[in-house]
Amino acid sequence: MSQNRRTWLKQSAFAALGITVSLNSLGGEDYLPKDLRTLLPDPKAGLVNLGSNENPYGLSPLAKKAISDLINSSHRYQYNIPHVQLFKKQLADYLGVTTDHLLLTPGSGEGLNLLARHYSKGNLVTANPTFGILPNTAKKIGVQVKEIPLDNQKVHDLPALLQAIDSNTAQVYICNPANPTGTVLHPDALRSFCEEASKRTVVTLDEAYLEFLDPPFNQSMLPLVLKGNKNIVILRTFSKIHAMAGLRVGYILADPATINELKENYFGNSNFCMSALSLTAAMASLKDPAHSTTSKKLNAAARQYTQDALKKAGFDFIPSSTNFIYFNLKNYQGDFAADMLAKNIVLRSSEQPDGKWGRVSIGTLEEMKIFIKTMETMRFS
Ligand SMILES: Cc1ncc(COP(=O)(O)O)c(C=O)c1O
Repeated sequence: MSQNRRTWLKQSAFAALGITVSLNSLGGEDYLPKDLRTLLPDPKAGLVNLGSNENPYGLSPLAKKAISDLINSSHRYQYNIPHVQLFKKQLADYLGVTTDHLLLTPGSGEGLNLLARHYSKGNLVTANPTFGILPNTAKKIGVQVKEIPLDNQKVHDLPALLQAIDSNTAQVYICNPANPTGTVLHPDALRSFCEEASKRTVVTLDEAYLEFLDPPFNQSMLPLVLKGNKNIVILRTFSKIHAMAGLRVGYILADPATINELKENYFGNSNFCMSALSLTAAMASLKDPAHSTTSKKLNAAARQYTQDALKKAGFDFIPSSTNFIYFNLKNYQGDFAADMLAKNIVLRSSEQPDGKWGRVSIGTLEEMKIFIKTMETMRFS
């Protein structure tokens, strides 16, 4: 099949699924039905998936063993309830909170959906661009979303966000470190913002990538919750540093009174919506800090290589603190993500008010070398 025809078929498959050709909303090739998946390049034939900010190094060996030890019991419901309870206890101890501060969700994306629905009686204040699930769900259910541009360094504009809060604001959503830009706020500035904003509305903090940060930036806003602030809500996930994207374990951290309210508005039964296999993997992963440390180190090395190579090749990018890099596409003509996919690289691209941007996840060093080589073949005017 000619390259053009293959590209066209791939794009038609995405269009059929309501996915824009630029892959803005593609969550990874595994989200596609099997027959459509065959239209994507065969991973074994060299597909480099740098589209969803996953950890390319895979599960902790302890997590793999925990799953295989439990697999023969997984035909029974009865294992789920004790696993949920045990996991909550272990996670609470690990974080220094009580189990009443926690609500487990199948991935933090489900937590974001829940929060969009729960705080829907007033407007939502958030950045633009930001991670899409919460604002998109809010828009879908008719919530007014006040989108405040990032500053010219692509960092959250805290004074402007604060100013956008009005008497009708039900929630502020801040993703820190920020997706898609990979920037980070100083914890002192974020803390002051949270203290001020939470007097007037709920502040939701998405800490999906916190573990990739170095001190002093790696500070969670959890101490504010532990001080009894009922208007601070935090989301975390096992999908990123713990490499468990496909296993779907996330959680919300908030004051017990807030968690109770959220639980009432939670349509699933959290004793059964979480898989015991996923929870057993998450418990094992918590006990393997070396795996997270190694993932963080390898990510930092591959990120450094990529940033150096992008700089050398003359690309403008936003220095990243995470496992992805946001880079300017200059005057690229056409659909950058679709054109990269035709060359076996999955990444994201989007059109923003200030031009076209790409976002590439940090894969292994070998994958990033392939990415850079492929970038060198693209025509930028
Ligand atoms: C900022 C942010 N929050 C939440 C999520 C959702 O992750 P998950 O549902 O796998 O926990 C992602 C996924 O990419 C993300 O980038």
